Amino acid sequence: MNILIRAMTPEDIPDLVRIERKTFGMPWSEKTFADLFRRDYNLCLTAEWGGHPVGCAVMTLLGEEGDIDKVMVEEEYRRKGIAKALLDALLGIAEERGARSFTLEVRKSNLPAIRLYEKAGFVSEGVRPRFYEKPVEDALIMWRRPTITRPTGESL
Ligand code: COA
Repeated sequence: MNILIRAMTPEDIPDLVRIERKTFGMPWSEKTFADLFRRDYNLCLTAEWGGHPVGCAVMTLLGEEGDIDKVMVEEEYRRKGIAKALLDALLGIAEERGARSFTLEVRKSNLPAIRLYEKAGFVSEGVRPRFYEKPVEDALIMWRRPTITRPTGESL
C-alpha cells in the first residue's frame, strides 16, 4: 500500500482529532485544526494510507523561518516512512516559498521524533526547561539552518 501526502482539508479533522487524542496528553481540538485553515501562514499536510488519514504535519511559516508545530502518525502506521515523507514534503514546500531556517521543540524523552528530526538535518541547540505539561518535561530546541559553503566547496 502506498503513502499519499496531500494538503490537509477540513474533512480530515475528525480523523486527525481522533489520532491526536490517542497520541498527545494535550491534544489539539477540532477548533484548533479548523483555525489552521484561516491562516495563510500555516502549511498543513495530511498523510493517507489505504485511503484514510493516518497522520499530519503542520508548520508556521513566517518569512524565511519555518516553525514545525506538529508531526504525528497513528501508532499502527509507524515505522513505514510516513513521518519522513510528511517532513520532507513540508520542508520542500516551505523552501519553495522562501524558508531557509527551520525550528521546533520536542520532548527531551521523545527519541523517535528526535531521531526523525536529526535525520532531516536538525541539530539540538538548547533546552526550554519545563516547557511541556501533562506530563511536565523539558523541550529540546532544534534548528535546521542553511549550510554556508565557501567558494572552495568546503562547508563552514
Ligand atoms: N525509534 C528510533 N528511531 C525512530 C523511531 C523509533 N521508534 N521512529 C522513527 N524513528 C526515526 C528513524 O530514524 C526513522 O528512520 P529509519 O526507519 O530509516 O530508521 C525515521 O525516524 C523516520 O521514521 P518514520 O517511519 O518516517 O517515522 P514514523 O512514521 O514512525 O513517525 C513519529 C515518527 C515521531 C512522528 C511517530 O512516532 C509519532 O507520531 N509519535 C507521536 C507524536 C510525536 O511525538 N510527534 C513528534 C513531536 S510533535
